[in-house]
Amino acid sequence: MPTAASPTKTSPEVAPPGDSAVLRVVNEFYEANPFPGFDAGKYETRQDLVTRASWYARRLDAEIPFDAKVVDVGCGTGQLACFLALKKRAVLGIDYSQHSLDLAQTLKERLALKTVDFRRRNLLDWDLPPNSFDYVFCNGVLHHTSDPYGGFCNLVKITKPGGRLVIGLYNRYGRLMLLVRRRIVALLSRIDPNAKDRAIRKQLVTHDTDEAKRHTWYADQYEHPHESTHTIDEVIEWFRKNNVTYVSSFPHAELFGKSKRIFRPRQLAAWRTGRAAHLLVQLAWIVTQNAGGGYYVMVGQKQA
Ligand SMILES: C[S@@+](CC[C@H](N)C(=O)[O-])C[C@H]1O[C@@H](n2cnc3c(N)ncnc32)[C@H](O)[C@@H]1O
Repeated sequence: MPTAASPTKTSPEVAPPGDSAVLRVVNEFYEANPFPGFDAGKYETRQDLVTRASWYARRLDAEIPFDAKVVDVGCGTGQLACFLALKKRAVLGIDYSQHSLDLAQTLKERLALKTVDFRRRNLLDWDLPPNSFDYVFCNGVLHHTSDPYGGFCNLVKITKPGGRLVIGLYNRYGRLMLLVRRRIVALLSRIDPNAKDRAIRKQLVTHDTDEAKRHTWYADQYEHPHESTHTIDEVIEWFRKNNVTYVSSFPHAELFGKSKRIFRPRQLAAWRTGRAAHLLVQLAWIVTQNAGGGYYVMVGQKQA
């Protein structure tokens, strides 16, 4: 359940309150729709993983030292964890979905990756040792839990002092259009049985020819049983309360931001980074982040 310290806005399809109820429905969802999923035939070799990596994964690869200890919390089907392990970094993938972890393990074995491991854990209730990872990723996960702020605090605990945290969330403004589209598709589906198929064809991954992946995206965006949305300043407040220094964000939380460096702190004039600037940026995201469902990433550094 969202805590008073972390006001969250939940979708109307929200599951009944209570940790176990949310965990159960979200887990059922990901057992049926492992994310992001992949066509195993497309990952025959390590080079296939490189070829299919996003620009973001490539930038991470360019910036993270090879001797870093990395954890990907909510790793899903494990592509990012395996990709980062190609350079022999020690990578741990954590997820609660056994089906997703089985696929991740298959990918690891197929590519004979020795330095990546996968474990089944609930990020709200785990036994990972404190201060143990240099880089902690949690992409698209916290907003599907019953306590996003509590989950964030758990991520901070396992980060080494001086280590980096990367948190991917739905933005309250950036996701507005998706919520409208979701309503429209639901209404149209009542009178037009093809409405859902058309929406799937128009999904943001239309450039991806993988039909199964497109269905997974559709389910994740339009049929998820539990999600919350979060503003930039809400996350900055999470950072402040946990002695985490803001480093960067993607897309840029700053007005007229340009830097593509993920782990280089941004030093900008206050007018480009304050609350008013964040509000303007997020209002623009209603339009510019529409295709991506309002997803954004915030990067912080745990104070030493
Ligand atoms: C949208 S997917 C994101 C997968 C991957 N991080 C990515 O960006 O492609 C969310 C993942 O979070 C996992 N998850 C949700 N709640 C969790 C929890 N309480 N503990 C651990 N994993 C959880 C789900 O099983 C799912 O694989």
